Amino acid sequence: MLCLCFQGLKLSRKRKKTLPRELLAELPPGRAGPRRSRPAQPGLGEAPAAKKNKIKMVEAWYMDESQEDQRAPHRLQPNRAVSLEQLRRLGVTYRKLDADNYETDPCLKEIRKAENYSWMDIITIHKDKLPNYEEKIKTFYEEHLHLDDEIRYILDGSGYFDVRDKDDKWIRISMEKGDMITLPAGIYHRFTLDENNYVKAMRLFVGEPVWTAYNRPADDFPARKQYMKFLTGEAQ
Ligand SMILES: [Fe+2]
Repeated sequence: MLCLCFQGLKLSRKRKKTLPRELLAELPPGRAGPRRSRPAQPGLGEAPAAKKNKIKMVEAWYMDESQEDQRAPHRLQPNRAVSLEQLRRLGVTYRKLDADNYETDPCLKEIRKAENYSWMDIITIHKDKLPNYEEKIKTFYEEHLHLDDEIRYILDGSGYFDVRDKDDKWIRISMEKGDMITLPAGIYHRFTLDENNYVKAMRLFVGEPVWTAYNRPADDFPARKQYMKFLTGEAQ
C-alpha cells in the first residue's frame, strides 16, 4: 500500500521510484532527490491531502521572554510564526498521522519500518497518571539535548516542544493529537504541558531506548558538534 501520510513523510528511495510522476511533482523541493545523510531531513510541508481535508497542521512561533507560567503560549506580540520549512532547516521533522487508528495505521507501520523505530511505548503525562509528576514536569522543561533523536507521536491531549533556532532563540511547537515530531540528536530543547495539563504520547526509538538528557551546557558531545555542523550547512 502506498502511504503518503501528511508530509513530511520520509520516503524510501525505493518508494520514491514507485511514486507516480504527479505525486513526485507535488512533493516539496528536495523530496524527489536522493536522501541526505542525517540529521538533514526531507522536506516538510502541507500535503495535498491535508489541504483538501482541512486537517490542522502543527503551529510554531517565536517565544516571548516572559518567565510566567511555562504552560502559557508565550507568543510575541505581534505573533512571529515559524514555518515547517524553518523547522526543517533546524533538522526538525514533522508528520501528521491518524491517531484514532494508531494501532492499525499502515502509515505508522511504514514509518517505523523505514526509520527502524523498533522500540515504542506510550506515556501519559497527567498529575494522576505519572509517578513523580511535579518533578518530571520540571525535568522535561530543563533545556537539554540527547545523543539520539527524540521521536514523539501525540495520541491525545497536547503540549509544547521548545527548540532553539540557529540564533539561540526559542521556538515553541504546539503539538496536538496526530502530530509526530522528530528532534535531531544534539538540538537543545525542552517540553511542557500546555494549559490542558494532559498529553498521551508514543515514544519511539531505534533499538533499546536511552533517555539520558544532558542539560545545557553540553556542547562537547559529538552529537552536538555534528548538529552544529548540520546547522552551518543549512545556513549556507
Ligand atoms: Fe528531550
